[in-house]
Amino acid sequence: MVTSSAPGKVYLFGEHAVVYGEPAVPCAIERRARVTATEREDGLRVHAEDLKLDGFTVEYDGDGDARPDVEAERPLVEAAMGYVNEAVSQVREATDTPDAGFEIQIESDIPLGAGLGSSAAVVVAAIDAATRELGVSLSPREIADRAYQVESAVQDGQASRADTFCSAVGGAVRVEGDDCRTLDGIGNLPFVIGFDGGAGDTGALVAGVRRLREEHDFAADTVRAIGDVVREGENVLGTDDYESLGELMNFNHGLLSALGVSSRSLDTMVWAARDAGAVGAKLTGAGGGGCIVALDEGDDALTALKYTPGCEDAFRAELDTEGVRQE
Ligand code: PMV
Repeated sequence: MVTSSAPGKVYLFGEHAVVYGEPAVPCAIERRARVTATEREDGLRVHAEDLKLDGFTVEYDGDGDARPDVEAERPLVEAAMGYVNEAVSQVREATDTPDAGFEIQIESDIPLGAGLGSSAAVVVAAIDAATRELGVSLSPREIADRAYQVESAVQDGQASRADTFCSAVGGAVRVEGDDCRTLDGIGNLPFVIGFDGGAGDTGALVAGVRRLREEHDFAADTVRAIGDVVREGENVLGTDDYESLGELMNFNHGLLSALGVSSRSLDTMVWAARDAGAVGAKLTGAGGGGCIVALDEGDDALTALKYTPGCEDAFRAELDTEGVRQE
């Protein structure tokens, strides 16, 4: 039995545009998914709790089509199961054991589908735990690469390497196409997260942006403009010029909004944080619902978010410099 954990993340800049080769800067945060893998004769048995779905347990054998019997938003649960299935396929390939069976236990304090990289964290931790259980230890970069294959398969080829690389190596990272790097000396940015209790459908949101980009030159320009924001942001990162960083985050949110991936609740939280003095605020991840990230050194944005109708949870998030690890 091996337990591994991997962090969730927020996007300081660049989600969606990163799918089209623009750079993005995600930052790992101290909220983790923990996955325990135990070898068993054959098939796959998955238990998942604390996924902000009131907990669910799923049992099925093989890579079967059995449907989980749970009271939760079905697309979310099916997506979670799809990720675990594909992760186990990667483990079998990496360890050269096509018939290996596993019992997988998932616990997570990252809300599902809310823009904090829950699926990437589960996949990264699952690959690490299950390969170690079979006596193989992969480097974080190899885990990142395999986790990316998983996300691509589940999301119909529409995924960037950003989430999975960030979760595997931790800290602040920069991803542009296949070029993935860690960013040193970023320090602990004063992140405040607001969560509306909902979730977005990443696949549908990514497909929506793709369509806009194909149909309108101005949407393609908007995607490129997000890349420009990231490139400017990189010059400020590592300094304590939070004002400029925040301004660029605001710009990034406006561009994402133009691409149709914000929502009323995300906009409400963004404005609540800004009105309370946050130097910047934007949605994080795929959008549609879920989380915003604000930058505020004081407590006012956090307090304001806690009292904002539609904001279910607000918390500070510390940068997690550690990626995947065995517990
Ligand atoms: O919402 P999340 O945490 O799955 O992030 C999605 C980020 C996108 O850029 C929209 C897609 C991707 O694969 O990079």
